[in-house]
Amino acid sequence: MLKTCDVRSWRTSDADSLLRHANNRNIWLNLRDAFPHPYTKHDARAYIRSVRERTPETTFAIAVDDEAVGSVGFVLRPDVERVSAEIGYWLAEPFWGRGITTEALIALTKYAIGTHGLTRIYALPFAWNVGSCRVLEKAGYVLEARLRRSAIKDGQITDQMQYAYIA
Ligand SMILES: CC(C)(COP(=O)(O)OP(=O)(O)OC[C@H]1O[C@@H](n2cnc3c(N)ncnc32)[C@H](O)[C@@H]1OP(=O)(O)O)[C@@H](O)C(=O)NCCC(=O)NCCS
Repeated sequence: MLKTCDVRSWRTSDADSLLRHANNRNIWLNLRDAFPHPYTKHDARAYIRSVRERTPETTFAIAVDDEAVGSVGFVLRPDVERVSAEIGYWLAEPFWGRGITTEALIALTKYAIGTHGLTRIYALPFAWNVGSCRVLEKAGYVLEARLRRSAIKDGQITDQMQYAYIA
């Protein structure tokens, strides 16, 4: 039982709240371009369908008072990197600054390691994303590298910060 939120499976009935919260440029600006903007009802339905179809289940809703207000998930790496996973997350803007993502990240990190026998989970926030770097640090992730000029977002070349949690 977490204090600030629940981390639970995505439900088909979450589409409206997902659409409401995900259609936000401040969220899109800090995620990969695979995250759509503007975010449509079709995007919300397709996302929930795809995460629900995936086995094993690796992407979960962050819920407050049972409303889905964010997402946290990991991608298991293949082949010789199968002891590693990349983790990612976002939270609806009205809920920022309450410690919700930190708590969800700690819970999912523990779950991913325990369920999949991982030795390493990593994340790659953009260098300008100080809030996300702080969340990772609070969850026990350690900065390993600054990947200089490794990504382009919104037409701007940026560094990425490589953080990892080692089991
Ligand atoms: C980044 C994000 C997930 C943080 O979620 P959150 O629930 O607000 O995070 P928490 O409340 O657990 O912690 C945020 C921490 O960052 C700090 N922080 C936030 N913005 C900051 C800023 N601009 N400068 C310095 N610190 C900042 C907060 O003070 C807090 O640290 P503290 O507890 O030491 O005071 C959320 O803002 C978000 O969804 N952003 C858009 C998507 C995104 O960036 N996803 C991650 C991609 S790598």
